[in-house]
Amino acid sequence: MRQDTGQVFRIEDYRPTDYIISHTRLDFILSPHETVVTAELDIQRRASTPAGTPLVLDGDELECVSVEIDGESLPEAAFEATPQKLTLHEPPSKAKFTLRIVTRLDPSSNSTLMGLYLSSGVYCTQCEPEGFRRITYFLDRPDVLSIYTVRVEAPEQTAPVLLANGNMIESGKLDGGKHYAVWHDPFPKPSYLFALVAGDLGMLRDEFVTSSGHKVDLGIYVEHGKESRATYAMDALKRSMKWDEEVYGLEYDLDVFNIVAVSDFNMGAMENKGLNIFNDKYVLADETTATDADFANIEAIIAHEYFHNWTGNRITCRDWFQLCLKEGLTVFRDHEFSADQRSRAVKRIAEVRTLRAHQFPEDQGPLAHPVRPRRYREINNFYTSTVYEKGSEVVRMIRTILGPDKFREGMDLYIQRHDGDAATIEDFIKVFEEVSGTDLSQFSLWYHQAGTPNVAISASYDPAKQTFTLDIEQSVPPTPSETRKRPMHIPLAFGLIGPDGGDIKPSATDGATVANGVIHIKKRKHTVHFHGIASRPVLSINRGFSAPVTIAMEQSAEDLLFLARKDSDLFGRWQALSLLFTEALVQAFRAVRGQKTPVFDEGLIRAAGEIAADTALEPAFRALALTLPSEADIARDIGANIDPAAIHIAREALLKAIAASNAEGFAEIFDAMNLEGPFRPDADSAGQRALRNTLLDYLSVADGNADRAATQYRTASNMTDKSAALAILAHRFAEDQRSADALADFERKFGSDPLVMDKWYQIQATIPGTAAVDRVKALTQHKGFSLSNPNRVRALIGSYSSMNQTGFHQEDGSGYRFFAETILQIDKGNPQLAARLATAMRSWRSLEPVRREAAREALTIIATSKNVSTDLRDIIERTLA
Ligand code: ARG
Ligand code: ZN
Repeated sequence: MRQDTGQVFRIEDYRPTDYIISHTRLDFILSPHETVVTAELDIQRRASTPAGTPLVLDGDELECVSVEIDGESLPEAAFEATPQKLTLHEPPSKAKFTLRIVTRLDPSSNSTLMGLYLSSGVYCTQCEPEGFRRITYFLDRPDVLSIYTVRVEAPEQTAPVLLANGNMIESGKLDGGKHYAVWHDPFPKPSYLFALVAGDLGMLRDEFVTSSGHKVDLGIYVEHGKESRATYAMDALKRSMKWDEEVYGLEYDLDVFNIVAVSDFNMGAMENKGLNIFNDKYVLADETTATDADFANIEAIIAHEYFHNWTGNRITCRDWFQLCLKEGLTVFRDHEFSADQRSRAVKRIAEVRTLRAHQFPEDQGPLAHPVRPRRYREINNFYTSTVYEKGSEVVRMIRTILGPDKFREGMDLYIQRHDGDAATIEDFIKVFEEVSGTDLSQFSLWYHQAGTPNVAISASYDPAKQTFTLDIEQSVPPTPSETRKRPMHIPLAFGLIGPDGGDIKPSATDGATVANGVIHIKKRKHTVHFHGIASRPVLSINRGFSAPVTIAMEQSAEDLLFLARKDSDLFGRWQALSLLFTEALVQAFRAVRGQKTPVFDEGLIRAAGEIAADTALEPAFRALALTLPSEADIARDIGANIDPAAIHIAREALLKAIAASNAEGFAEIFDAMNLEGPFRPDADSAGQRALRNTLLDYLSVADGNADRAATQYRTASNMTDKSAALAILAHRFAEDQRSADALADFERKFGSDPLVMDKWYQIQATIPGTAAVDRVKALTQHKGFSLSNPNRVRALIGSYSSMNQTGFHQEDGSGYRFFAETILQIDKGNPQLAARLATAMRSWRSLEPVRREAAREALTIIATSKNVSTDLRDIIERTLA
């Protein structure tokens, strides 16, 4: 494994390379244990670089076979090759020369899933961020753009499919049962976008004609026999291509677009030019094997990777500090795509739930970092929800501030000006300043300052003056190595709601800029007056989650209930209800801690019943509204001294209270929702299933028996309904024989389908209670489980540690110890996976003292182990700091 050098990379150290690589010709002779790679690099010394300046190329665990310059092999003294780098002490003094490097790789033993590796017998690559240096020596950084021609040679029998970036320009047969293909990508690109795939794969074929009439061949490559499971992905791809033309005027630019699904992949997918490589979980779906959530993820990720073709590939990043330039923007684009394909309000609520569940705790804990970080030890650890999700929220705020037209103008200018560049966040902000004439310098703090801002608001109404007043104060809590924070520009969308539910328009406002329903907070404190308000309004604030902040405001339960019923903004209704639930749950938690029985407000319980029955609302919204905050959400709101066992009891109590009071109504709705007819994966149908399954959980609690869930498990003809029923059986009725029977039945039916079995692992990993640790330990020995497959690991170990609060956070520390041992084992083969899993411990300091100490001990076990990877060490040391 790579040695941890402890080196820290700093944004201020950026400097362009001394040499550029105009063309890169690669030749791969593939073989599982001994692949030979010949790289021919056309190198140019920059005019500003003195002749003789040493050339240092990056490597990672490389074996150098030979080095030649312009056809002459180099004497030993002229260069130095280590696994980590190739140094030419004195390169030719002429301005251009060709460097030919031969390296030897062992793809079969590459368990890191970076560089060239084998996944179920298929050769594939992952080069972002620094995987290319595991293939050949190179200036492996995003600002070195080169034109690639790639020749791939392999046995025809085992690798009939040979793919790389761009268009195929030549192919043919060779002696000894081998064949080859040559691919050429005319667009200069950084090495992280290089890709190669070779193997025996099935293919789903289609085509797309761009708005200017260019025909593009589309291919999705999957395991043989699974072609039909790629039809939804193909459909999503064509819709994405169309959407980017319609919404941004952006067309696809090559003759081919290929997607390959592989079963061993560290992340979701990768946007390699013309050859996206996907985790098969985000390609394969049909009604019997995938849930509605899977379908929605596939649609979003297919779109995300496709959209990168412009925001990421045509315009790439100057350095990895700028990662959010492509990721934040592309997430924003895929969010908008899904919002247009589905229900906008429902999509927004789901996004906000994800942001709060993942980004907020990151921003509020030891791993907090700015959307554009200034330092890193291991860049792989910065593919975070701050860079992605908060990065997307920042782009959304730019659009809120500028309005949709100026935003689009800015995007057009960005593409026009920077096409072919490796750009920076400053470049990005500048185009929006230019088109709008707005100074965004304060706004750009969103990129540079970590931490979730808090906005404290107190409202008062003066009936004599007919004035409604808001006292607003913003603050940003300190984050690691950033104690002093500056006030930010926070655009807060709002509404003043009158007694009939309609928005009241004030006759005048003062105290802050208020425009188009948005209060622009820029100073630490503002007092905003709304004049001409005839009666006390109810404030609906941060509508649509216009800013990723927390709001501290005393709002009466009565006002919140009013908002939950009447706000004209659907997001506002959901938000009010979720605030009410949260408050009720925090109080219930305190009651449980004080050995008391929690009691709940009748009004809230009734509101839940009303929303469930309100057929004017779409089912997906009703389902979201009825979903209580998760145990982790509640823990975050409590903030300190977390006792997960008490949280669980409190949440179950509220669930029971809602279920008991509304059982009749819920049953009526549930029974009336007859879901017969052919399966459709669209948002409306998915919403119906979501509502029905949410009600099924409540009804199972109300009934106190497994009858309904067992029936649904037996009769369900789609995976959404089947897995929902299985989860209820396993989580609520473990003692009932039908629970064990259903788990066994599921294994019998799907035992040979690893992606489906991931649901089985996950459902069992999230069964609450102290028996979880032994259950999960036992499942690691299950015949289908493997610590070397990221999907299996995330389904079992990942869901156990992040979605099973009572099972993981055990007082005796057994959950943490098991977790630490497992992570250390994973780290030996796949450091990236280990490091990512370890982030589940990031909120350990908010635990109550006994668990906190146990967590510290487990973290220390990792920190003091020998041969821990840079990836894992970086996370653990920051977590403990
Ligand atoms: N750029 C990919 C995306 O679309 C993520 C790839 C990151 N891979 C990694 N090994 N860090 O989000
Ligand atoms: Zn991305």
